[in-house]
Amino acid sequence: MRRRDLLTLAAAGAVAGPLLRSRAEAGPAAGLTFPAGFGWGAATSAYQIEGAVKEDGRGPSVWDVFAHEPGRIRNGDTGDVAADHYHRYRDDLDLMRDLGLTSYRFSVSWSRVLPTGRGTVNPKGLDFYHRLVDGLLARNIRPVVTLFHWDTPQALQDLGGWENRDCAKWFADYAHTMFSAFGDAVPIWLTLNEPKTVVDNGYTSGSHAPGKRDRRLANVVGHHLLLGHGLAVQALRATGARSRIGPALSLSPTYPANDTGAARRQAATADGEENRRWLDPLLLGRYPADWLAAQPADAPVRAAIKDGDLAVIAARNDIMGVNYYGATTVTGTGRRVMKHPTSQATWQEIYPDGLFDLLTRIKRDYGDIPLSITENGMATTNALRDEDRIAFLREHLAAAHRTIQAGVRLESYHLWSLMDNFEWAEGYTQRWGIVNVDFTTQRRTRKASADWYRSVIARNGL
Ligand code: FCB
Repeated sequence: MRRRDLLTLAAAGAVAGPLLRSRAEAGPAAGLTFPAGFGWGAATSAYQIEGAVKEDGRGPSVWDVFAHEPGRIRNGDTGDVAADHYHRYRDDLDLMRDLGLTSYRFSVSWSRVLPTGRGTVNPKGLDFYHRLVDGLLARNIRPVVTLFHWDTPQALQDLGGWENRDCAKWFADYAHTMFSAFGDAVPIWLTLNEPKTVVDNGYTSGSHAPGKRDRRLANVVGHHLLLGHGLAVQALRATGARSRIGPALSLSPTYPANDTGAARRQAATADGEENRRWLDPLLLGRYPADWLAAQPADAPVRAAIKDGDLAVIAARNDIMGVNYYGATTVTGTGRRVMKHPTSQATWQEIYPDGLFDLLTRIKRDYGDIPLSITENGMATTNALRDEDRIAFLREHLAAAHRTIQAGVRLESYHLWSLMDNFEWAEGYTQRWGIVNVDFTTQRRTRKASADWYRSVIARNGL
C-alpha cells in the first residue's frame, strides 16, 4: 500500500462502514481468550499529540517547518498545540489506566531532548519523558518507546538529514543518550517508525516532511535509516541494559488481483517493495536480489551501501514491531487496485485476514522472532458512536488471536490511536482515536470503541 498517495484510487474503493457494521452485528468468533500476559496497548507519537513545540527548550523538527509551509497540510493545520499532551499527560495517563491498558507505545521528540539533534542534552526535555515513563510504571503500564517517528531535528536536516550518512551516527548517539538516561525503566525500545513512509512520503511523493520528491535520493535515505537502526541496536547492547529493541515497520501482504501469472509476478515484485526490502536487510542481512536488481546501475543507493553495512543493519533484534493497516492488491500490469473496503484514509485496503497471512509469513520466512502489533486502526468520521471502528478492531483482534493459535509469538497489540491527533498531511480532519479530542477545548471523551476496548482488556479477549 502506498500510504496517503492513493487518493485517486479511492473512488474505486468500497466504503468500510456498511460491510464492517454488518459483520459486527453477526459478531465474528466470540469467546476468544488471549494468553495470560498479552499486552493490551495503544499507540501515539510525539509530534501528533504533544504540542508545546517551543516550550522548555525544544528545538524545531522537520515537521514544525513543513507544517508551517503554506499548502502542505489540509486546512493549514499544524502540530503546534495538537492534543496538548505535553501539558495534559497526567490526565492522559489516568485515561490509560481507566481503560486498563497494560502497554503504551509513544515516541520521543528527538529535538526536545537534543534541540539541535546532537550535542548538549536539554534537561527539561528529558525530564518530560522521565515523568511520562514514571507515570506509566506507577500505573502498571509498560512503556514501549519509539525513538524516531519521523521528526528529524531541523538542525540535522540543514546538514542533509537522512540523506547524509552521518545521520545514522547522530541517531545512534541520541539513542545512546536515551538508553543511558532510562536504563531498564524502558523494557522495549523501537528504533524507527515506518522507514517506508519516510521514503515514500517524505522523499518520493513529498507529501510528508521534508517534502522532497526524488526517488533515487529516497532509497539512499532508506538505507541510512536502516543503518541508523543497526547502530542504535549496537548502542543499546553496549550499555548492557536488559531492555529489548527492534524496529516498527509498516508491512502489507501483497496479493495478485487475479489468477494470472503476470499478476502473481507483479505481486511478488510489490512484496519486495512493501515488505522484503525492509525485512530482508533487518533479519537476513541482505537486500532482496530482485529489489536490488531493479535499481538502475547508476542509482545512488548502490554507492550508499558500504561494505559492512548489512552486518550492522542485521544486528540481532529482540522484537519486531508491525504496523498493519491493510493489504496490497496488484494487477498483471503492476497497478495497485482496491479489492477490499477502505476508510476515510483512502490508502487503507481493510483486510483483517491479511494480518494472519502477514504474521505467519514473517515466522515462516524470517524465523520465530517475537512480534508486537505496534499500530492497527482506522479513521472514522463519527465523533463518539464509532461502531465501524469497533468492528474493525474486533476483526483484527480475532485475526491476531488466530495467529497466536497458529504458533506465532505475538505478544502485544497497540491500536492506533489512543486519542484523536494531528494526522500528518491530513491535519485534524482524520480521527483515529478511541478517545475523542475536542481541539478547541482539549476535552477528552471516550468513544464507544474505548469502552468496548476496555471490556476486551478486562476479559483478556473477545
Ligand atoms: C501510520 C503512522 C502513524 C499514523 C497512522 C495512521 O503510518 O505511523 O503516525 O499516522 O499511520
